[in-house]
Amino acid sequence: MAIQIIKANDYEELSALACKKIADIITQNPSAVLGLATGSTPVGLYKKLIESYQKENLSFKEVRTVNLDEYIGLPKNHPNSYHTFMKNIFFSQIDILESNTHIPDGTATDLEEEGLSYERLIQALGGIDLQILGIGHNGHIGFNEPGTSFHEQTHLVELTDSTRKANARFFPSLNDVPKQAITMGIGTILKSKEILLLASGSSKADAVKQLLSGEVSIDFPASALKNHPSVALVADKEALSLM
Ligand code: GLP
Repeated sequence: MAIQIIKANDYEELSALACKKIADIITQNPSAVLGLATGSTPVGLYKKLIESYQKENLSFKEVRTVNLDEYIGLPKNHPNSYHTFMKNIFFSQIDILESNTHIPDGTATDLEEEGLSYERLIQALGGIDLQILGIGHNGHIGFNEPGTSFHEQTHLVELTDSTRKANARFFPSLNDVPKQAITMGIGTILKSKEILLLASGSSKADAVKQLLSGEVSIDFPASALKNHPSVALVADKEALSLM
């Protein structure tokens, strides 16, 4: 299936378009299940959603969320965990119930069981209505690095050096970036009813070009999205500059 392309002039507009999409879904279905992502790209979207909550009465009271991934070994309250990121950037500023927010536990002693139980949880919630994704420079989605089977469910991954370097900006030093993570698999992501992929800035232009004009291959994880019936890419001019 072709990926629908939604062009934005800049990051601000990209964030507003993604916000509108989520607000429409919540208005139609107040208890929607949103799949959420971390990284810099969705931060503007979360800001816009907070504004909609504050100024337009958009309520998250019944919304359920499942995040894509978490680092292994970082306790929930660690400053660099995705639990902390989501809490600070988004959850603590809206009316969502903490018990309705879910993120894989990177400190679970049995990580295989944690993956299975995360899959059971998503199923029990009725599946993901809309999954938000960013894209890594090497085409990773969630933490699914090149070479990952498109059928994979929530699982433990070894992070590539390039991903650790790209994410080092959030940590005191590269050495502090965990070497492993637990992530929804591409199989998990593809089960979402709808997917919204966000790409901003010239550093993502190569990845966007590869996604839109390259083959479907496990060497470029985001290409799996071409096998999904309802994917939209919201990208700004810079991210689309090589197209
Ligand atoms: C991380 C996250 C991904 C994210 C990617 C891109 O590796 N696990 O979910 O899409 O980084 O991040 P950014 O938006 O900061 O470029």
